[in-house]
Formats: sequence, C-alpha cells, structure tokens
Amino acid sequence: MNNKKKLIAGNWKMNGSLAANEVLLKALIAGLDDVACDVAVAVPAPYLAQVQALTAGTVVAVAAQDVSRYESGAYTGEVSVAMLKDFGVRYALVGHSERRQYHGETDVAVAEKAQRALAAGVTPIVCVGETLQEREAGQTEAVVKRQLAAVIHLNGHCISEIVVAYEPVWAIGTGRTASPEQAQAVHAVLRAQLSAASEHADRIRLLYGGSMNAGNAAQLLAQPDIDGGLVGGASLKAADFLQIIAAAR
Ligand code: G3P
Repeated sequence: MNNKKKLIAGNWKMNGSLAANEVLLKALIAGLDDVACDVAVAVPAPYLAQVQALTAGTVVAVAAQDVSRYESGAYTGEVSVAMLKDFGVRYALVGHSERRQYHGETDVAVAEKAQRALAAGVTPIVCVGETLQEREAGQTEAVVKRQLAAVIHLNGHCISEIVVAYEPVWAIGTGRTASPEQAQAVHAVLRAQLSAASEHADRIRLLYGGSMNAGNAAQLLAQPDIDGGLVGGASLKAADFLQIIAAAR
C-alpha cells in the first residue's frame, strides 16, 4: 500500500501574465476543497513575488522552474537558490527535458542544481525521461537510470529528500500520454535504483509528467509507484488542474 502523500505540481513553463496569473490562481484556490495531496505551481521567475502573495496561507506551494548550479556571481540571467528562497519557493524543477534540450543541461549540471537546492532546504524535483528515439531503441531504462545516477552520486544520503519526475519526452505537450503500465514500469525501475541507494527510498515521491490530464490522472495515480504528477498544459486551466488534484488521494 502506497501511503505517501501525493504531490501534484503544475509547470506553467513560459506562460502567464500578471493578469492571467491572478485569474488562474484565484480560480484554483477557490476550487480547492478537501485536498488530500500536496499542491505546487512552478512559475516563471518574474512572477514569483506575485504568486507568493496570491498563494500565501493556502495549500499551494510555490515552485521554481530552474535554479542556478552556482551560489552567486557573474552568471548573467541565472537565478540562485537564495533568490528563490526570498520568494518562499519550496520546490525547484531541475533537469526538465526542455532545459536539457534547449540549454544543453548535462546530467552533472542537473546533479549540481539538485545539490544547491537541497543545501538551501528547497526540494528539487529531478526530471528524467527518454526521447521517442531512445524508447524505440530500447534505451529507456538505461537513459533514466543514467540521469538519476548522476544525482544520486553527487547527493548521497540527501537523496531521500528529493522528488523525481519521470517525463517521457515523447509524451510532453503531445497529448500522447504514457499508458499507466508504461509509466509504472519506469517508475518501478527508478524506485529500485533509489532503494539501492538509500534506506529511505520509500519516502521519495515519484511523479509522472507528460500529457497528464483530467481524463487520465486517476488511472496513472492508481499505479503503485506513481506518487503524483508534474502537469504542464492542464495546469493552466483551473478546472482541469482541480480535477487532477481531486484524483490524487
Ligand atoms: O513539466 C511538465 C511538463 O513537461 C508536461 O507537460 O503539457 O505534457 O502536461 P504537459
């Protein structure tokens, strides 16, 4: 029996405006009732102050979409974990496939980002996932284990404090969701890898991400090793995100 409290995190990606964010968050907060899971929204950095203010006193936690691997200094455009903490950030995505793809983030860089977050008391949501080409080549397990291994290697016993998000790249933004069986199979591999690395691996929440929506969330979340979701498009619609949250019991 999986009795971990689930986590449903929305990833707004590069979307939003001050006006739209206020409408979305007020509708989300107004619709939260009998919430059995943890809830977070990962928002673009310019909106952290607004989202912190709008979510204050609610069950909605603020998350960042990235964090610098450096403490501070001459890193133009980067945002340090200390800066994120100034805005009450509780979680930080690290290694999202879109950052690995468009910004060349390596496994080592992702591991260092996770280390920075952990050292500051921010929970890293470590994103791993294979491309369609890698899946079709039978490399799914090797890819996700390699990505996670870098984070385990650098963070040692702190690994029990992370969250992992399995996001098959071919399911992100495509409407082509991994089946519950496909997702569970990879989650089980990740769980076994974490169990070999930490006696507290059972505390680590494994989220699924990749076209999770109101229609498929319950089936995905019913899987034994799926402890929540990392939700993109559906998190931008309050009604859909609320249905996913309601399914996370
Ligand atoms: O980080 C979550 C995101 O990659 C999934 O996006 O739109 O497929 O839910 P989406």
